[in-house]
Amino acid sequence: MLNRQGRSTAPGEEAMADHPTFTGNRALQIEEPLLFEIGRHDATGVDIDEPEAFIPRLAGLERSEPIALPGLSEPETMRHYVRLSSKNFGIDTGLFPLGSCTMKHNARLNEKIARLPGFGDIHPLQPVSTVPGALALIDRLAHYLKTLTGMPAVAMSPKAGAHGELCGMMAIKAAIAARGEGESRTVVLVPESAHGTNPATAALIGFTVEAVPAQADGTVHPEDVRAKLGPHVAAIMLTNPNTCGLFEKDVVAIAAAVHEAGAFFYCDGANFNAIVGKVRPGDLGVDAMHINLHKTFSTPHGGGGPGAGPVVLSEALAPFAPLPWITSDRLIETAADAPPGAEPFGRLTAFHGQMGMFTRALAYMLSHGADGMRQASEDAVLSANYIRACLSDLMSLPFGEQPCMHEVLFDDAWLKDTGVTTLDFAKAMIDEGYHPMTMYFPLVVHGAMLIEPTESESKASLDLFIMTLRDLALAAKAGDTERFAGAPYHAPRRRLDETRAARQPILRWTPPEPVKEAAE
Ligand SMILES: Cc1ncc(COP(=O)(O)O)c(C=O)c1O
Repeated sequence: MLNRQGRSTAPGEEAMADHPTFTGNRALQIEEPLLFEIGRHDATGVDIDEPEAFIPRLAGLERSEPIALPGLSEPETMRHYVRLSSKNFGIDTGLFPLGSCTMKHNARLNEKIARLPGFGDIHPLQPVSTVPGALALIDRLAHYLKTLTGMPAVAMSPKAGAHGELCGMMAIKAAIAARGEGESRTVVLVPESAHGTNPATAALIGFTVEAVPAQADGTVHPEDVRAKLGPHVAAIMLTNPNTCGLFEKDVVAIAAAVHEAGAFFYCDGANFNAIVGKVRPGDLGVDAMHINLHKTFSTPHGGGGPGAGPVVLSEALAPFAPLPWITSDRLIETAADAPPGAEPFGRLTAFHGQMGMFTRALAYMLSHGADGMRQASEDAVLSANYIRACLSDLMSLPFGEQPCMHEVLFDDAWLKDTGVTTLDFAKAMIDEGYHPMTMYFPLVVHGAMLIEPTESESKASLDLFIMTLRDLALAAKAGDTERFAGAPYHAPRRRLDETRAARQPILRWTPPEPVKEAAE
């Protein structure tokens, strides 16, 4: 069986059909069943002494049957988890061009520092007197976040970008209530291109969301905002650079119009990594902005946690910041301890934030220095523009030939009449060993393909990626639909029904029916 280059087929469906293996494994790509399928109730990796006889005190409620957990020996356990881990794709495996996610390299140095016992082993309930170093670290990080953003205050406890949005919008809500306008200012303006968490956050805390259209150049225009402003508007939530990878060039005019109308400017700072050291959001008129430490300052994305999304606040919002507040030598845990004039809106989290993430982010900042952080932003923007320039003769740009920021957005106009969709194209990237880019987001662009290479990639790595995408694009244009229709051909699993997998996940394992003996 020959593949398109005339070489024999790599492990894949055809090879498997021609040469089925007894185990289902494909060479060294090993199938890994569930723990329940391979575990045995009588096996264990540890040798525990039988407990001494004792009189149960559970009044007959004690378990009479074994708990039937699947057991494995230590090497089997090791192999199970190592094999599972090797099925994952991450930034340590290859280029991860997921737009709006900033999958940048997490330097090992940061990991090493975060694991130092003084940081890694502390407990949030330890007496404050035993953790002065941790408090100083949080205070130092807060100082740099304020310096880089040009904002006077920061709430450190939010656990992710979306949580930061909640924090910032709750501070805005509290400030509006303190002005006696809580009943009248009920609307939050959100551009159509915004990340879904923006309208969700506003709606969650009781605001009504009104969409602001994006204009033909992909940015929000001040006239569109002005047309929506009034005494009923509490805030605008604007992302800058926006989710189309463009800098909102009218941001200062928009901020001025919003303030003139008595409303607040919440900036979604998820894309701060494109402008660190170049622009201070405080100078643009921002009142609140979350910073995704996992995007801008390279902490791990965490797959659901733990994360950190500190929120910087303007003079007007600072008094409403949630508890606790951390100063270099003090932890302010209650409103009674807060300085005069402070009206914290409450508490968002049990403790003070994610120490591990803070440590990594500060290590990133200190190891880069001011010039390094600025260069990281410049390189991230350069990488995205390099990709744009090298692909724009084949793939269409929804907002025309204009420089982008840290991510480049293509649409699917160039795929018209090819029989190939954005999804097919992304699946074919998997066959080539690339994680797909972000697809179908932002929603304002048809068949969106949002590519964010980050500053981590070398030119050689970008060139290979570009050549691969060019090869795929040329194949799509040449009518080679076969290359796309069934892709991925070479992944351990073929194309899945992703909607069904998301809507009807099978979360419970049920043992297979015992095989019945054939009747005599
Ligand atoms: C523009 C934008 N805003 C907000 C968020 C939410 O951030 P998080 O995933 O940390 O909650 C994201 C995440 O991808 C984003 O891209």
